[in-house]
Amino acid sequence: MADKPSFYITTAIDYVNGAPHLGHAYEKILTDVMARHKRLDGFDVMFLTGTDEHGQKVAKTAEANGKEPQEFCDEITKKFLAMGPQLNLSYDDFIRTTEPRHYEASKAIWNAIKENNPDDIYLDKYAGWYSVRDEAYFTEDELSEGEDSDGAKHKVAPTGAPVEWVEESSYFFRLSAYADQLLELYQKHPEFIAPDSRRNEIISFVKSGLQDISISRTNFKWGVPVPNDDDHVMYVWLDALTNYITGVGYPDTDSTSYKKFWPADFHVVGKDIIRFHCIYWPAFLMAANLELPKRVFAHGFINVNGQKMSKSVGNVVAPQDLLDLYGLDPTRYLLMREVSHGQDGNFSHEYAVQRINSDLANGLGNLVQRTLSMIYKNCDGQIPQPGDLSSEDKALLEHAHAKLLPSMRIDCDEMKFNRALENIWKLVIEANGYVDSQAPWALKKEDPMRMETVLYVLAETIRILGIVVQSIVPDSASKILNQLKIAEDKRNYSFVSKDHMLEAGTKIDQPEGVFPRLEANDVAA
Ligand code: MSP
Repeated sequence: MADKPSFYITTAIDYVNGAPHLGHAYEKILTDVMARHKRLDGFDVMFLTGTDEHGQKVAKTAEANGKEPQEFCDEITKKFLAMGPQLNLSYDDFIRTTEPRHYEASKAIWNAIKENNPDDIYLDKYAGWYSVRDEAYFTEDELSEGEDSDGAKHKVAPTGAPVEWVEESSYFFRLSAYADQLLELYQKHPEFIAPDSRRNEIISFVKSGLQDISISRTNFKWGVPVPNDDDHVMYVWLDALTNYITGVGYPDTDSTSYKKFWPADFHVVGKDIIRFHCIYWPAFLMAANLELPKRVFAHGFINVNGQKMSKSVGNVVAPQDLLDLYGLDPTRYLLMREVSHGQDGNFSHEYAVQRINSDLANGLGNLVQRTLSMIYKNCDGQIPQPGDLSSEDKALLEHAHAKLLPSMRIDCDEMKFNRALENIWKLVIEANGYVDSQAPWALKKEDPMRMETVLYVLAETIRILGIVVQSIVPDSASKILNQLKIAEDKRNYSFVSKDHMLEAGTKIDQPEGVFPRLEANDVAA
């Protein structure tokens, strides 16, 4: 058999200065959906996520908690690791930047830059502004006046984070030398940054001129030591970005995994960190003479009741809160359905209940429940034998077999899951409309053969729906497909076709509800 094409996708790695929140969960689910979609579409997928454990932010938070940095990281990382089973994430590897393999890779990329472009790393002195919260340097003209909660004035970065003046000996990376190559990359590969609005933002930033960046720190120790100079630790972003190649075996560029998966197909990151991913990262790789990732996809932010999540506002939502309220698959569905491609999304409880009930409980859930119950009761508990197909039957099956997947594949490949779901639900609505118009309960007496055909057409439509929603609601899709007795190895997209229709006579179990209805008040309580 021919080798499957490869597909490598990554999330940002999360800082471990606090527990995971809904924003982290959203990004991981978004990436998980893409990974599952590509696996179902026949790709050999590598999905990497992890934690970003170095830097001043984490070191300071550990200190404030009276812990050694490593001990503190171990504690918090457990909470990020727990998101795996909690959110049903299908990642293949979880990287921690404190692992030996990552130290090795970070030192190796530093050395590779020095070997390939010796002038691109030089020792100098940094004197300027630094935001610990952003782990980023800022120039004077990027800053504005901000106020503390106690009214004290201080300078803040464009993110609102306070900055501090830093003067220290530092290694620099000659980013200024890469402006033309970067602009050429964006021009030759317009797909490198998605969505387009972000691409324009990056292009104008690069055109406005790039300064060399500091890539090492001396006034604290929590980082990867710079090769041959133990007084310095690497700037946390150089170390963090390198995780994407550590995860596939760098510095062993001859390893099977590196050869197979690098360059990555997708780096999925939030809109706040695209400069690091679209400017610094490709420039580091160019300097180290390594291949560039194919695409950076910037998602928007999840707000809560129209407001940015923030500790001071007290509206930070923990992923577990939503799981307790709605269950896992409804939460995954909600996040993928509500947030448009690359845009910010809003979470509100009232709307969530409405959406989950209308689409899942009353939509797909009801379709499955009433179809399978009628089959169970009226067809001896087995998939019925269809007779001649009417034009309505043919139209519904044509939608399921031939029309759905091609457009869904285009949307999903672009990470437009909200659009894909909107389209999948057109079939759910059409199928529910077909149940009402065909009224199989009335056919039971009038024309039982016709009833069997109608129920067969519905069950077959549900088979297709079960397959295509697997990446979004894996557990529920699996319940649906189990009820239809579809073998595990007949659930990928190649089975979305009229060549693999349900076999009449297959015994089914007594149907069980897949998506329970939520009561707004119960849930709020
Ligand atoms: N450690 C860096 C990333 C290094 S990647 C080489 C970092 N960490 S973070 O914990 O602050 O953020 C991790 C990811 O979560 C980022 O992609 C960030 O954009 C995303 N989000 C943080 N808050 C978010 C929301 N409220 N909504 C959606 N995503 C958000 O940045």
